[in-house]
Amino acid sequence: MEKLFEIKKLNMHYPIIDGLLGNIKGYTYALNDVDLDIYKNEILGLVGESGSGKSTLGNCILKLINPTSGEVVFNGENIISKTKKELKSFRAQAQLIFQNPYMSLNPRMKIYDILKEPFIINGIKDKQQINEKIKKIISLIGMQEEVLNRYPHEFSGGQRQRIAIARAIILNPKFIVADEPVSALDVSIQAQIVNLLLDLKKHLNLTMLFISHDLSIIKYISDRIAVMYLGEIVEIAEKEELFDNHKHPYTQALLNAVPVISKDKTPKILLSGDLPSPNNPPKGCKFHTRCPYVMEICKQQHPDLTNISETHKIRCFLINKNKS
Ligand SMILES: Nc1ncnc2c1ncn2[C@@H]1O[C@H](COP(=O)(O)OP(=O)(O)OP(=O)(O)O)[C@@H](O)[C@H]1O
Ligand code: SF4
Ligand SMILES: [Mg+2]
Repeated sequence: MEKLFEIKKLNMHYPIIDGLLGNIKGYTYALNDVDLDIYKNEILGLVGESGSGKSTLGNCILKLINPTSGEVVFNGENIISKTKKELKSFRAQAQLIFQNPYMSLNPRMKIYDILKEPFIINGIKDKQQINEKIKKIISLIGMQEEVLNRYPHEFSGGQRQRIAIARAIILNPKFIVADEPVSALDVSIQAQIVNLLLDLKKHLNLTMLFISHDLSIIKYISDRIAVMYLGEIVEIAEKEELFDNHKHPYTQALLNAVPVISKDKTPKILLSGDLPSPNNPPKGCKFHTRCPYVMEICKQQHPDLTNISETHKIRCFLINKNKS
């Protein structure tokens, strides 16, 4: 499979600033040595508890924020070291759809102007070309041309998210980060938007990083799934493998929390205790404070993300135990 992204040793440590003196008093370790490949034309699902670093990863991949260190190689080029000017073509090719369609559309702009804006930003001025593309995209997202003359507040949440999606895909991007794109919507509308994203992915040959808390949506939409815990990927596999043959105790606990999804025959583990703070993550395996299988080595040493098959990786010392 051809790689669109190669993410290497990506770290994002947000400084925690002392309010009075303005000194750095610590760091939030939001991403820690993340290594991840994203293949062309796949939907990679990203799951994990709130605060595990999912949005930070999506934002770093798009270079909306500058990571502390590491590389994000897109089509063979490291975008992290690029200047603003050099990033222009990347920006058109990689777009973000985010959670809240109420906030992502400028309330003072008509839909036509909202959809025209990406062309202006990218220096495209041909009015006929722009109008044709806007009409095409409006039909692609299942809306009528009359919406172009209206304002965002005249639409429901689902319709607004369709418009936000239209804006994200209007310049034919290759890659989309969809960060919880349906979690602010009514459950009844969520399936329509998820199906729209799936249709668009097929039509436009998109590659997508799809972030969600909702395991049933992740299961429906993804080709592969990565599980994050405290800024690290702890398991990654193809969808079926991840749901039917997961190996990491944290993945097991996440899936056990949704009984309908889990066909798991292994003993149930329940996620007890809160997620430790990413400002002061546990030493050794970051999951050791909550893991029912914790061993002495887990408290001392940090497990690597290791292949257990060509397409399945986990970060857990249990794999060594099973081998010996
Ligand atoms: N701009 C920022 N400045 C400082 N800390 C941040 C910033 N953005 C995120 N963080 C912190 O980094 C950690 C990871 O946050 P992030 O938003 O990436 O998690 P998430 O997995 O997307 O969570 P959620 O599911 O709630 O959206 C959290 O501890 C968060 O408080
Ligand atoms: S390394 Fe140890 S603590 Fe971490 S998940 Fe595996 S068994 Fe649990
Ligand atoms: Mg988030």
